[in-house]
Amino acid sequence: MKITFYGHASLGIEVNDVHILVDPFISANDKASHIDINTLKADYILLTHAHQDHILDVETIAKSTDAVIVSNFEIVSYFQNKGLEGHPMNHGGSWDFEFGNVKYVNAIHTSSFPDGSYGGQPGGFVIEGERKNIYIAGDTALTMDMKLIPLQIKLDLAILPIGDNFTMGIDDAIIASDFVECDKILGYHYDTFGYIEIDHEEAKRKFFDKNKDLMLLDIGESIEL
Ligand code: NI
Ligand code: MN
Repeated sequence: MKITFYGHASLGIEVNDVHILVDPFISANDKASHIDINTLKADYILLTHAHQDHILDVETIAKSTDAVIVSNFEIVSYFQNKGLEGHPMNHGGSWDFEFGNVKYVNAIHTSSFPDGSYGGQPGGFVIEGERKNIYIAGDTALTMDMKLIPLQIKLDLAILPIGDNFTMGIDDAIIASDFVECDKILGYHYDTFGYIEIDHEEAKRKFFDKNKDLMLLDIGESIEL
């Protein structure tokens, strides 16, 4: 499994030859100006919630790639009404896709579309693929529901928001990594806007002091699991 950070909360995931894009917000992110969304491959686009900073480039990319949008029922319906293909899910549900099993799990946040319409309840994803299991928390507060995840699955990586203000900050993300029982963390949802700027060295040291590994990737950088 290969994971590429496209800035903010945008991720590319490759499992075998299947390309998955998560929460594409790239074209309006000045920090990601070197990423050309027209070159991104996507068989599936996973969306955690309906906020602009997670769905901005969905239509453009889904139209050019014919990707299947996977999200909650309301978000998938919204994009199906625009003629795009989707697979609706809701909290607690899982589905076997060609790349592995996906479960839509709870997140504590909000989920309106940029035009104010209802975007269902926000979520995160647990992906079981190619013998590697990852948790993409989405925008969320620290929540006790995270403790449910390791009851069923051993995670290899937890992707957690760490920017504070709109989501968990670093200290809560450390507790979240305890709750999901995964000491390998990829941080996201930081630095994009003034409200969520973080000190990278301080963040890494705080995780390191708890015997955890926080990875912060450059935009466009990948890791192999
Ligand atoms: Ni949000
Ligand atoms: Mn967000």
